[in-house]
Amino acid sequence: MERELTMEFARVTEAAALASARWVGMGQKDAADDAAVEAMRSLFDTVHMDGTVVIGEGEMDEAPMLYIGEKLGTGEKPEVDVAVDPLEGTNLVAKGMPGAIAVLAVTKRHCLLHAPDMYMDKIAVGPQAAGRIHLDAPVVDNLNNVADALKKRVQDLTVVILDRPRHYEIIRQVRECGARIRLITDGDVAPAVACAIEGSGIDMMLGVGGAPEGVLAAAALRCMGGEMQGRLWPENDTDIERAHKLGITNINKLLTLDELVNTDDIFFAATGITEGPLLKGVTFNGDGATTHTLVMRGKTGTVRFIEAKHFFAKKPKYAIKGVY
Ligand code: FBP
Repeated sequence: MERELTMEFARVTEAAALASARWVGMGQKDAADDAAVEAMRSLFDTVHMDGTVVIGEGEMDEAPMLYIGEKLGTGEKPEVDVAVDPLEGTNLVAKGMPGAIAVLAVTKRHCLLHAPDMYMDKIAVGPQAAGRIHLDAPVVDNLNNVADALKKRVQDLTVVILDRPRHYEIIRQVRECGARIRLITDGDVAPAVACAIEGSGIDMMLGVGGAPEGVLAAAALRCMGGEMQGRLWPENDTDIERAHKLGITNINKLLTLDELVNTDDIFFAATGITEGPLLKGVTFNGDGATTHTLVMRGKTGTVRFIEAKHFFAKKPKYAIKGVY
């Protein structure tokens, strides 16, 4: 994939973030999500690619746009797989809380795990600690190894974990080791990616969250030389059937970074909707809005942060809620 696509993908996540940012704090997570989906979908029409959604808003009969299998882009080469989450952290936007992003990953065709809509147990670290973690290792071993790799004490590590009863035991174990924890209410893609961003203050992400979100985070970590491992975490027979339908036969298999994203030919883009550890949120002012976007390319490993000012006089649709 050509580097010119970098800016195209940044524009796509910017549009989704600008649209859903209008709904911050409104208590309407579906409306915020719809706005992000519509804006992202409409921008994709302009991108020079022959894309197929492999991770999106659901099956064709569940989602009107950005559904699995939907074709995106102008139809010209390159042929690519597309993973999207136009609004990652719907509750965060509804409540005006930190950490919501608009996010996508694009790879050459057949290189992204077609993750079913179910849970995945995950562990993520940045490049310095790559090769020093194992999903099945005791928490204490992972913490000691990561601390050693980062040349820190365990007490100086910060681990992000979703605040859920299913994590009470790992939270207890991390606390027992003395590492610091940042509990989050939603949105585990941004903190997983932040593990690989110097100065983010996050060293590790642990626990069970969405499987599609796991693949999105894995794409970013692969671009930056970080590491992630996962294992699907079915809750019932429907989840197991869903995985089988996508060709996953061994549901208990440990998924390495290579199995989550099987190429370096990757683009990853994310725009902050609300302020978080990875990105600033959308801010509105008299004549427009400012967005903060992270975009990276796996082939070269270049990571760019783009602060963009959007002028409502020239982009009137961003001035109004719900127009796309
Ligand atoms: P949304 O789909 O509402 O945006 O939620 C995203 C998310 O918080 C993910 O970041 C996380 O992986 C997952 O949901 C956690 O799921 P649950 O809320 O069921 O524990």
